[in-house]
This record gives sequence, structure tokens and C-alpha cells, in this order.
Amino acid sequence: MNIDRIIEELTLEEKASLCSGLDFWHTKPVERLDITSVMVSDGPHGLRKNVEDSQNPNESIKAVCFPTASSLACSFDRTLLEAMGKAIGEECQHEQLAVVLGPGCNIKRSPLCGRNFEYFSEDPYLAGQLAAAHIRGVQSRGVGTSLKHFACNNQEHRRMSVSAEVDERTLREIYLAPFETAVKEAKPWTVMCSYNRINGVYSSENKRLLTDILRDEWGFKGLVMSDWGAVNDRVEGIKAGLDLEMPTSYEKNDKLIVQAVEEGRLEEAQLDKCVRRVLEMVDRYLENAEPDTAWDMDRHHQLARKIQSECIVLLKNDNNVLPLDVKQKIAFIGKFAETPRYQGGGSSHINSYKVTSALEAVGEYTEVEYASGYSISGEDDDEKLLLEAVKCAERCDTVVIFAGLPDSFESEGYDRNHMQMPQSQLRLIDEICKVNKNVVVVLHNGSPIEMPFVEKVDGIVETYLGGQAVGGAVCDVLFGKVNPCGKLAETFPKKLSDNPSYLNFPGEGDTVKYNEGIFVGYRYYDYKEIEPLFPFGYGLSYTTFEYSNLKLSHSEIDGDDVLTAEVTVKNTGSVAGKEIVQLYVSDRHSHVIRPVKELKGFEKVELKPGESKKVMFRLDSRAFAYYCEEMSGWRAEYGEYEILVGASSADIRLKEKVYVSSGEKLTAKFTLNSTFGDILTVPEGRKMFHELVARANLGGDDSDPALMGDGSEQMAESMLKDLPVRAIVSFSEVPGITRFDLQNMIDKLNDEING
Ligand code: BGC
Repeated sequence: MNIDRIIEELTLEEKASLCSGLDFWHTKPVERLDITSVMVSDGPHGLRKNVEDSQNPNESIKAVCFPTASSLACSFDRTLLEAMGKAIGEECQHEQLAVVLGPGCNIKRSPLCGRNFEYFSEDPYLAGQLAAAHIRGVQSRGVGTSLKHFACNNQEHRRMSVSAEVDERTLREIYLAPFETAVKEAKPWTVMCSYNRINGVYSSENKRLLTDILRDEWGFKGLVMSDWGAVNDRVEGIKAGLDLEMPTSYEKNDKLIVQAVEEGRLEEAQLDKCVRRVLEMVDRYLENAEPDTAWDMDRHHQLARKIQSECIVLLKNDNNVLPLDVKQKIAFIGKFAETPRYQGGGSSHINSYKVTSALEAVGEYTEVEYASGYSISGEDDDEKLLLEAVKCAERCDTVVIFAGLPDSFESEGYDRNHMQMPQSQLRLIDEICKVNKNVVVVLHNGSPIEMPFVEKVDGIVETYLGGQAVGGAVCDVLFGKVNPCGKLAETFPKKLSDNPSYLNFPGEGDTVKYNEGIFVGYRYYDYKEIEPLFPFGYGLSYTTFEYSNLKLSHSEIDGDDVLTAEVTVKNTGSVAGKEIVQLYVSDRHSHVIRPVKELKGFEKVELKPGESKKVMFRLDSRAFAYYCEEMSGWRAEYGEYEILVGASSADIRLKEKVYVSSGEKLTAKFTLNSTFGDILTVPEGRKMFHELVARANLGGDDSDPALMGDGSEQMAESMLKDLPVRAIVSFSEVPGITRFDLQNMIDKLNDEING
């Protein structure tokens, strides 16, 4: 497609028309110039493609529902995410779609967000890595993705009007970081802006977000589309870099665009940029389309089962109640065993071509007794169901209770206001624990729940919302065909009020203040020493792993100083298993407030009994950095850090100290009023400090004993770090040092750094 020529030939009206949808799912064609219309569909964990010619935008074709992001994230597995992406990409090719909408990589700020099941994690590194893998998978099949919802769409409550009030450092470190990683590493064809406002400005007309950060800083080259109905002022949107409005605006906004250009309020060149990106997307589709691609739903169903079996998290396994012994008499209790909850409500809802329940899949292993125990919508007599279930539990050796949250509890469009499970299910668990000692609870929920039964049952298995093949995957884990290896991608607090956003969720009126700042998820629980129900990164296995030999080494790769961490992991149990090894960076000497530790690496390793393998991590300077508002950039302070390697955020097995000098280019503007603490954050500043201490003899015998205490340089550093440099000569005369000398030292320091 000769895009330059087409742009020259398009009339103003045609240009404006290309900037919004034809209908719910298509872009507009311009037949005169052979510009075809292309189709987009939801995502993210399968296809929700509208039935052709259907007037109902929610009537979709049969497709495979893969595990939702809440579950996928527990795999900590980039390869699995790519595999799923490829499968979805194939489906899209077959269905002639240009773009599949997703993945969503918004941060789980509160467990209450109704849409958490569509998002990966409370941790930006994990969310970014997995979103990138998902995108790589889909796009490797020549189909585009739409990374969403950019940004700060962390609640459903008033999602189309609420303003997320968030400071710059928090925005960069927590809420934008996953988008940044996915954009830079995986280059999504498109990004979808969110409904909400950020610090007062709608995402759909936020130039800082859509152009300055996304394009100019991160180098995004694709198209930005609106979330469905997210446009407030279309002309402002064009100016900000919102290329495509979705769905259709019934030509209302096309007219406003034309009018704005004619009246000189909008430069045509700006409109041309948007048109170019729409045409580029159409062109990409045409170049990559392979409508003959086969789509084997059964193969994808099997893939969904395999993926989900690696996402399931074993939360508790006392007395080795699991894996189940087929020689025992086993009861499956709970309606979810028969009709599992495996996806959430809203735009990601898939018309699943088949669903395998645990009750159906268990036949591959053994026979079980079944009682439904409760009704999902309360339409049946729960009392009668409870009695039946208790009787069934009495007759059996082991009971597996399938429980969790019904659809009505969580969905796109609204948030929860508590973290409890339905009372009927809690009562069922209680009553069954009275008659049977071997109880396992299998959970189906999109987001954390309180677990008043945690001490009463022996086993807890978290499946999240695990896709249409969940029943098979659950049985594979329950019977030990698959050794569970998932780990939690978010903290389960003991109670809602422990959560850091508790005081400010969902906000007041149209404002929600992110007052907890960077202390989201484990960053908060760690710092406050609040013991969670289950920590971030936690998950058990049927085997055990031993960690040893953490070794760190520096090297330079492409001009960046890279730290390599190597650790040996051994399977010390009697069955094969996979372990997710996590690496956290800790900076406890920073002059800014930093979390106790932050995830900066994870790898999954498969080990036979007795086998050992080395696991490697590479950390660049960004892994040590915080976002420095004064310098408007990422800054890794010079100094000592700790590398922590472990099996969860609360189970650190090995630690090593490392000195880091980021090699970043600073624009130093130190003055006599900078504190020694500020100056000590750069290696050149440390040198200057040592020189000053020596010249002024601050560590020696002649120093003022009242000021210097034991006279050590370490003590001098602690005492001076909060003083401005000028203060050295303000209190008393220091022999051999004048204010003029100090100024010279500072000038030299600035020159050294900037030079
Ligand atoms: C959702 C998006 C979705 C779009 C199209 C919106 O309501 O927020 O995630 O892609 O609808 O269905």
C-alpha cells in the first residue's frame, strides 16, 4: 500500500472518517481508494468474534477459552504465555481478524477490582514480562494485539469518569512500568487507552501519556485506539495522539474533526498522522493475512488444559493429603465440580466450544461420589443440598470441595465491596470438616478471598479462573499426574483492611487517590511487616527444592553494566517437579524511600528427583533504579544493594551484597545547599567526601569531639548526611577550608559528572 500517495488523495472528510469505527468491530473502508475495512475482536484469553451479520455485538462464535490472566500469571512462564498467544493468533488468522484486543496489564491495586481476573499481577515486572510474552505469541502469527487499558484503570467503579490521582514516581514505577516493558520488548501493533482520567486528564486526550511517554520516550510506532466509548473530546484526542476511536461514533465525531481543521483549531498534519497509523494497521493486516490457517479447537482445548495445569497453585498440603490416592473412596462436593467457574463476565467472555468439568475429567483417574452441596444462584434448597453433601462426606475417605466466587460476585463493570465467599459455601466447608478429617478445597475465583477455613482443611488448591479445560487440569494436579508448580502473582491478605489501598478504594466521587504510592501489594506488606494469608510468589509442590551457590558477576553488554546472578537449584524430593525461582533486589541504603525488595527476575526450572541445575539471571541498571522525579528519569544510586533469591517473596533462601554504579549519565546540579547525603549517592561525590573528611580532618583527633563522637569516617558520614555542604563552614572555622574552597569542590564535582 502506498500510504503517502493515499494520504495525498484522501479528502478531509475521508481522512476524518478513517479515525473512527464503522460499527462495533470494524474500521471504515474507503472504496474509492481500495482501502478495506478490517476487523478487531476481544481477547484476551481467547476469541470473542462477533457472529457475522449479527446485530447483537455480544453474539460471538464458538471458540476456545484459555485460562484468564489471573491464572496465567501464576505460571510465571513466558513460554506458556507465548504458546497460548500463538494458538490465539492461529484462530485470528482463520477468522480473518487484524487485531485481538489484549492483553490487559493493569496492576492489581486492590483485590476488589471486578476485572482483576483479566489482569496479571500486583507486580509491574511480572505483569510486563507476561504481557510481552502474550504479545510475542499472538504477533508471531502475523496478527496484531492491543495492549490495554493504558493506563491506571485499576477499578471498575466509575471507570469512565474517575480520575486516578497518582504521583509521578508511582505512575512510572508501578502503573506504567508493565506497559513500558511490553511496548519496548514486544512492540504491540496497537495500544488501547483506558476510560478513566489520570490526574484530571482523560487517557483518551492525554498527550503526555499517548505521545510524550508512549511514542517519544518508549518508541511506540503502532496505533492507539480508544477503549470502547472512551472518547470525551475527539478533537483533543487527535491532538493527543489517539488515532482510532472505537466503536463507531455514527459520524458525529468525524464531522467535528472536519470542522476543527476547517476552522484552524486542528492542524491537518496532525490528523494525517492518525490516518497514517490506521492505514499502516490495515496494510499490516493485508500483508500478513493467511485465511487458510487451520484452527483445531480440540488441540487448543488440550493446550488450555496443559497451560492451566501449570498455573494451579497448591496453597496448603498438610499431612500430604494430596496427591489423592485412587485406592481411597473420594468425594467431589460442590456445584463447581460439575459446572466450574472458569472465566469472568464482560467483554472477555467467550462462547466456549466445550467445557470440561472436574466431575467429567475425574473418570480418567477413578470413580468418585458427587454431591453439589450448594446452588450457585441460591435457587435450590441449600439446606437439603448441605445435608446430602455431609452424608456423602461421611461415607468417604477424602473429600474435595469445589468452591469459590459465583459470576455475580465479580465482573467487568463493577467492583466487589468485600472479599468473602458466599455464606452457603463457607457453611458447607465447616460442616464437612466436622465429619471428615481429609478435606481439600479447590478454589475458583478471579481475585483473592478471605479464607476462614484455612486452619480447618488439609489442602487448598487455587485455580483462579482457569479456562474451559480447567476440570482436566485440576484432576491432573489432584491425582499427581502434574506436580503443581504455580505461584501466586499477588498477595492474599488475611483481611481486606490489610490491603494498602483500603483507605482509598474506590475513592470519593470522581477522584481516587493512590495515596499508598509505590507501596502496592507485597511492597506494602513487607515494609509494614503485615503477615499475609499467603504471600506473593508462594506456592507448594509435591517435591522440595534446595537452593545453593548464589554467585554474582559483572560484565558489560552493549555498553550497559550487567550483573549476572547464578544459583543452583536441586530437587530434593522423590518426584519430578518444576520450581519458579525468584530474584528480588533490595536497596536499604537509598536516600529515597524504597520497598524492602522488588522482583527483578524469575525463571522456571524442571528437575527430576535428585537433579540439580543452574539458573541464571541478568540484571541491567534499570533493575536497581527508582524513578527520580527531579531528574525525570530512572536512577540507580551508587551504593550497596542486596540480591535475594528465593521460592517466594517471604521465603528468601540466599542473599549476596553487591555494589552498583549505574553508569547512567546524570546532569548534576549540586550546590552548596546540596546535602552530603545527596552527594554520596554518586561515586564521584563519595570521592569528594573522602577528600573533604581528610582535608578537614573530620575523622581525626583535632575535630570537635561534640560533633564527631568516636571520630570514625562512618560516623562522620551518618552525622553529615543531612547537612548541606555549606554547613561545614557555617558552624565553626575549619582550618584550611573556606566557603570558596567548598564551592570549587562542588564545581569540580559537577564538571566531573557532566563532563
Ligand atoms: C473493555 C475493553 C474491550 C472493549 C471491546 C470495553 O468495555 O473495557 O477491554 O476490549 O470493551 O469489547
